[in-house]
Amino acid sequence: MRIAIVKETSPGEDRVAATPDTVKKLIGLGHAVTIEAGAGLAASVTDEAFVAAGATIAPTPSAALSDADLLFKVRRPSAAEISAMKPGAGVAALLEPYGDKAFADQLATAKLDALAMELVPRITRAQVMDALSSQSNLAGYRAVIEAATLYGRAFPMMMTAAGTVAAARVFIMGAGVAGLQAIATARRLGAVVSATDVRPAAKEQVASLGAKFIAVEDEEFKQAETAAGYAKPMSAEYQKKQAALTAEHIAKQDIVITTALIPGRAAPVLVTEAMVAGMRPGSVIVDLAAAQGGNCPLSRPDALVTVNGVKIMGYANLPARLAADSSALYAKNLLALAPLLTAKEGASFAPHWDDEIIQAAMLTRDGKVVHPSFASAAAPVA
Ligand code: NAI
Repeated sequence: MRIAIVKETSPGEDRVAATPDTVKKLIGLGHAVTIEAGAGLAASVTDEAFVAAGATIAPTPSAALSDADLLFKVRRPSAAEISAMKPGAGVAALLEPYGDKAFADQLATAKLDALAMELVPRITRAQVMDALSSQSNLAGYRAVIEAATLYGRAFPMMMTAAGTVAAARVFIMGAGVAGLQAIATARRLGAVVSATDVRPAAKEQVASLGAKFIAVEDEEFKQAETAAGYAKPMSAEYQKKQAALTAEHIAKQDIVITTALIPGRAAPVLVTEAMVAGMRPGSVIVDLAAAQGGNCPLSRPDALVTVNGVKIMGYANLPARLAADSSALYAKNLLALAPLLTAKEGASFAPHWDDEIIQAAMLTRDGKVVHPSFASAAAPVA
């Protein structure tokens, strides 16, 4: 089949859905790859490098898309990209599918079979395709680097002839993929690190990275993980106890990085305005959930807000700030998915409908919205 890669059009989106390495491997699997001119430049990949890997360069998005059987993208395709594709073709991208029925309808009307990379299940077999994890890992790292540049002090303890610089105290809220990488990064920089999460399994993971675990460990906490490994929404009573503990701890912190989210829901508020008022001037909050409403109500996507001398930054797209690495990992996630999208090597677009990974990630099929989260309009996945 012919796979197309186009230049991302979302503002600030520097990632690209293929690298010369994955192009070479897709061609090795018997596919053809067309890349829109300049698609990789923001991620430091030239057209020449793509050509050397065996890709064809197309001058415009529509030239890349018109005969494509499958589109690999980072972000959701635009209306123009959707209409440039032929009916029956496939799309795999971070489609931001949650609750957006109008967008799913648009894909279905165009008869595109679309897979949302966010919906790839977190099961062992699918780890290599797990784009949320590959991107969150880098986001967790970058959040600490950004916090360190906003913080007007050093991270490690330094003993000098002129006096001692105290180590920064860093508190990570949400110890999932991004949070664990943030803990590891802050530790490497020499900070004193603590972390919290509502999943009991996180306690051991946090401790194994050398950070202190801070949580209300009651009966509800012990039951707070779903079979899929995600956090359950916590009761109002638990949240109240958690807030009291957090307020006391946060007042002593220099850097707070929040990464708490339950997929498909608005982010829980973990750092209230009152807690921010209790922090000392010069402290930094980096809110990874800013684009989903924020773990801190004061954060704004992609804006630096300063309140009482506390800097609050809500980066909406940290992976794009490491575009070469995030593209390489994301492209590998897509490459791993490719064999599930054809009957045999090199053959046409034919997703393995019975495969649990495809069933979980498929948003539209044969002109219908099929994902169970849109149940009222869904046709059963055969
Ligand atoms: P994840 O699902 O692996 O981790 C989220 C963690 O938060 C889980 O461990 C969960 O138990 C925890 N959590 C949920 N509710 C909580 C609460 N009330 N208190 C404490 N912990 C709670 O997710 P991942 O992949 O680490 O992503 C984390 C967040 O970072 C998400 O909001 C994601 O959208 C965001 N993100 C943002 C990026 C950016 O550029 N701003 C880039 C990548 C991810």
